[in-house]
Amino acid sequence: MARHVLVLAAGRGTRMKSDLPKVLHRVAGQAMVRWVLDAVAALDADTTTVVVGHGADAVTAILPEGVGTALQADQLGTGHAALVGLSAVDWAPGDTVVVVYGDTPLLEGGTLVTLAEAREAGGADVVVLAAEAPDPDRYGRVVRRVDGAFDRIVEHADATEAELAIREVNSGMYAFEAAFLAAALPRLGTGNAQGEYYLPDICNHAAGPAGSVVVAAMPFDEMAGVNTHAELAEAGARRRRHILARWMDAGVSVEDPSTTYVDVGVTLAAGVTLRPGTHLRGATSVGPGTEVGPDTTIVDSQVGAGSLVWYSVVRGAEIGDGVEVGPFASLRPGTVLAAGAKAGTFVETKNTVVGPGSKVPHLSYLGDATLGRDVNIGAGTITCNYDGVDKHPTEIGDGAFIGSDTMLVAPLRIGAGAVTGAGSTITRDVPDAALAVERSPQKDLPGYGDKLAARRDAKHRRGGDT
Ligand code: UD1
Ligand code: CA
Repeated sequence: MARHVLVLAAGRGTRMKSDLPKVLHRVAGQAMVRWVLDAVAALDADTTTVVVGHGADAVTAILPEGVGTALQADQLGTGHAALVGLSAVDWAPGDTVVVVYGDTPLLEGGTLVTLAEAREAGGADVVVLAAEAPDPDRYGRVVRRVDGAFDRIVEHADATEAELAIREVNSGMYAFEAAFLAAALPRLGTGNAQGEYYLPDICNHAAGPAGSVVVAAMPFDEMAGVNTHAELAEAGARRRRHILARWMDAGVSVEDPSTTYVDVGVTLAAGVTLRPGTHLRGATSVGPGTEVGPDTTIVDSQVGAGSLVWYSVVRGAEIGDGVEVGPFASLRPGTVLAAGAKAGTFVETKNTVVGPGSKVPHLSYLGDATLGRDVNIGAGTITCNYDGVDKHPTEIGDGAFIGSDTMLVAPLRIGAGAVTGAGSTITRDVPDAALAVERSPQKDLPGYGDKLAARRDAKHRRGGDT
């Protein structure tokens, strides 16, 4: 018997008041629907189909390989979405169809496996997962008969006062027998408060002689649906806690989990220390013994072992072993800091390779530059890499010593072991081991300081501002 999965993700998400389709809002670095698909992967299903509609192209673009789509052009309700999804599936009687919603990013794979197995083992037409909600809010309520047997699911908008008091709610996760689902979906109507085809109404039909419904319990924490930005933030916080707990178990020290943000795609080695205010995003990795933070953001970057990155912003960079970054450095895409290198206080780099052991300790901008090993860059050095039209490269040889406040006007090559004088504007290549100085000769005007002091005193006596 095959297993099929439908993920309903066509809705606009009106309450998000956002142009972005709801299921593309990100939770801990990943679109909501991707979290759902991660959980779905545990089912090892024969087919997985995402029902797309609002923002269909954008949603389709982020789906993993092997996941199909079905287009629900008009969003007429979850029952209609399931109908559209099922018609794209090559099912056979006896197959199990698991239906989940794309806005439940806290769902875990194990729960779905239990759901599918419950249907396959028991042979029920429908198994629906429900949970006891501390605050049932806008969820559909599970209505039971006096004897406790399942009766039906009623939507929040259609519920009576008494039904609204029910705390057992519909998770929106179901396992159906395929032929039953195919027969029941076209029978759904829209005679309800929202004028929509409600998928959970199937459980009401099924409660009659036509089918059998089993309600199984799941933890409420996992079923939370995201319909508002407040719920999005809550889901993000919960996923973040899971991610940090996993890394702490793996030997990562997290000083303050409440201010530490690690995306799902990040890889950390045992022995990493994350200080408060650390944000690790995208495909970032950090090696053993490295300390990150306080107050540091690293995006899509690799950091080696035994390094320190503090009070800095790092994007699209490769940082080697034993490197020091910050405080207050901005490493932009294409930056490579080789082993033992340093990019210190108020240093910005872009598309620049800093060779092994080379130091850029203070107040510098290096763009489109390639530094050899053991180069020293004096404070205030700037590569003038942009002429207003094009970008040009700067090459600095091994062991070169760039004096403070050197302007390196690219394209330019500074030879190995060469030196530039402080304050020089270098416009021509410098040979290996040469000193290049470009400065006007110093003039001394004797007594000028005394004259200035006398003028200041005179003004003071007249009562003027000093
Ligand atoms: C739904 C359930 C409710 C349950 C809750 C759990 C229905 C009618 N109600 O309510 O019983 O407690 O989820 O989270 O199913 N969608 C489509 N096409 C549509 C309409 C919706 O694909 O035409 C998708 C949405 O993108 C969303 C999902 O279905 O991912 C659920 O829709 P939503 O409007 O959020 O349903 P709820 O009101 O939360
Ligand atoms: Ca919802």
